[in-house]
Amino acid sequence: MTSVRVDPAERLRGELAPPTDKSISHRAAILAAMAVEPVSIRGYLDAADTNSTLAAVARLGAIVETRPDELVVRGAGLRNAAVPDAPIDVGNAGTLMRLLPGWLASQDGRAFTLDGDDSIRRRPVDRIAEPLALMGATIDATGGRLPPFTVTGAHLKSIHYELPVASAQVKSCVLLAALAADGATTVSEPAPSRDHTERMLAAAGVAVHRNGRHVTVSPADALSLERIEVPGDASSAAFAIAAGVLVPGSRLLLQGVGTNWTRSGFVRIARRMGAIVLGDLEDEPGDEVLATEPTSELDVAAGPLVGTTVVAEEVPLAIDELPLVALLGCFAEGDTVVEGAQELRLKETDRIATVVDGLCGLGATIEATADGFAVTGTGGLRGGRIDAHGDHRLAMLGAVAGLASRDGVVVDGMEAAAVSYPGFLADVDSLR
Ligand code: S3P
Repeated sequence: MTSVRVDPAERLRGELAPPTDKSISHRAAILAAMAVEPVSIRGYLDAADTNSTLAAVARLGAIVETRPDELVVRGAGLRNAAVPDAPIDVGNAGTLMRLLPGWLASQDGRAFTLDGDDSIRRRPVDRIAEPLALMGATIDATGGRLPPFTVTGAHLKSIHYELPVASAQVKSCVLLAALAADGATTVSEPAPSRDHTERMLAAAGVAVHRNGRHVTVSPADALSLERIEVPGDASSAAFAIAAGVLVPGSRLLLQGVGTNWTRSGFVRIARRMGAIVLGDLEDEPGDEVLATEPTSELDVAAGPLVGTTVVAEEVPLAIDELPLVALLGCFAEGDTVVEGAQELRLKETDRIATVVDGLCGLGATIEATADGFAVTGTGGLRGGRIDAHGDHRLAMLGAVAGLASRDGVVVDGMEAAAVSYPGFLADVDSLR
């Protein structure tokens, strides 16, 4: 385990292109593996999670070629995944673990076993097993709900599935399975969640329709995706945004950040708290299913913050950035409350517990609630020591807290950042 001391920054200045999007990269590799024509992916994220996805699709019969400016994937085809001779290792990647079975479920009569690291073995798969079973596939999970688990494919039936929680991973899993079903499949979400899968399917020529909270995908014979361009990751950019907002005197320019409205929740919340983050966020497009991903430059400056309440509807649009909302809350005037975020308990760690314990250890006044947390702003943070518990976002949270703290922060387990952002510390140093 690597312990890294992050000293307070005097001010942060400069330009930064955040790493490319993890969610979109996973989807690009999986959809390319489901296609037969070669797909050129520009800007595929080179990080531990997305490398697990490349390894997985290669084991399923896709050929992955790394060229200087692009990755070329020659897929196995919708119904022709090869059966590996040992379990597929998803590493730490929850998105891979929950999306890939959507493809595997349609491999009639063939069985695939998925497993991963200790954190993955604590993350539930019953949420995808239920809809896939309704479609006719079989999922045998450890204790009925955990990895390792085996997916046995079938000739799939179309369904109308009401998601019990707003989860883009579960929605995406069902939409991928829908491509090989015997009719149109509809997924209804309780609240909008990230829509990268819908956009990429639309770009691949699939009939995808949205009607309010209902998304319908028609079966397809093939995917036709020639080229995918991966934008900067809004979730990774959020760490630099938080640092720029919190460290007095800072001014940062972030380039090529994905501004898909389903991923911009953090910037909207931060702006509501008074943060200066200039740039064009995408407007909600209504029922139109766009086939592209928008980007913008974001111009960030430090300034005073006030507390806010984040309500359940907003949670899926900022799900991975809620730890940073807690951090902003420590520096704000008044209380910051996050409600309706019980899903945080099922992330790489129980992020309600690890964020509350971690920030408490740095001097914050924060407490856990059943479905989120409540922070009382004290205008700053003392600093101290935080354990990442193997969670990339917690490691980076600790480092940003260090930059903005009075005494600095030692992050135990900083190496976890490599799951989504291998160059994180170097990028932070470049802004000092
Ligand atoms: C993701 C969806 C979210 C998010 C995760 C990535 C995705 O999970 O927390 O980091 O790429 O679809 P849920 O769908 O489980 O909320």
